[in-house]
Amino acid sequence: MPKAELHVHIEGTLEPELMFTVAERNKISLPYKSVEEASKAYNFKNLQSFLDIYYRSTHVLLKEQDFYEITWNYLKKASSQNIRHTEMFFDPQAHTSRGIQFETVFMGILNAMKEGAKNLGISSKLIMCFQRCMSVESAMETLLLSLPYKEWIIGVGLDSSEAGYPPRIFASVFDRARKEGFLTVAHAGEEGPPEYIWQALNELKVVRVDHGIACVKDLQLVHKMKTEKIPLTICPLSNVKLHIFDSLADHNLKQLLDMGLQITINSDDPAYFGGYLNENFLAIQDILHLNHNDIYQLAKNSFQATFLTAKEKAKLLKELDNFTLKQKHTITEKIS
Ligand code: ADE
Ligand code: ZN
Repeated sequence: MPKAELHVHIEGTLEPELMFTVAERNKISLPYKSVEEASKAYNFKNLQSFLDIYYRSTHVLLKEQDFYEITWNYLKKASSQNIRHTEMFFDPQAHTSRGIQFETVFMGILNAMKEGAKNLGISSKLIMCFQRCMSVESAMETLLLSLPYKEWIIGVGLDSSEAGYPPRIFASVFDRARKEGFLTVAHAGEEGPPEYIWQALNELKVVRVDHGIACVKDLQLVHKMKTEKIPLTICPLSNVKLHIFDSLADHNLKQLLDMGLQITINSDDPAYFGGYLNENFLAIQDILHLNHNDIYQLAKNSFQATFLTAKEKAKLLKELDNFTLKQKHTITEKIS
């Protein structure tokens, strides 16, 4: 099924195999002896225990080529799953805080995006995230570093540890970002309360909420998001791996969909959470009793919630409709 992905951290696509290859090339030692040992360590108690491992793994990335390879590998995988458009996060502070130049990170990613468009036909956009566990000054410094490249960065976001870091802290950085022409999104209501989603909407003026699953605890918030058509980028496998829900059967995405919210399905950090976008769809469809219309609606939402132009969205939505029509014909032919 043609679809878009709107919530994937490029650093979260670093598969253990590539991590070992790059670590060897850059002479960086890893806390694991083998790929198997690394995979086994990917058992998380909560968001913070994941982030500790995730940021540690980024230490192998030093050169432009490393950032190119990680992005290129993701785009190849995404294209193989019929993702027609992707909006990827990157965490510059995870790298600049280790002495890597912003330009090194950015150029590696950008060159892979250009290659993806040319050779795979996949379109992509980039969203720069600030880490909420770092200072406002560091976020502002990062924003200033990004300005020479702003024509290639569609928006800014907020990620990392959520509890104890309300979005409001970063209001001044987001104000400046919007003045510079960036769109704004934020992780909110993943582990944190609905109040953080309110703050993201009202004070950071986000146009899309990442995760946002805590909104069901506040029906006024649900009403606002529904009437204002604010998309939520939901990451089912991630939510279970990080124990936001005990199991996929307990996930509230079907409830949110039935409430009429514009939810989308995404992989978050596929190298750590057991699957890319198709694996997320496959995991939820039976267990949450999603019917054909639900799946179609999720793919439709994914295109409508992108930061593409109306014309680009219409083209992709037409592609989706042609696909579903063709599927209906195939099913009818099989029955008759
Ligand atoms: N960075 C990478 N994945 C994240 C997530 N699920 N929540 C917050 N920050 C992240
Ligand atoms: Zn995320």
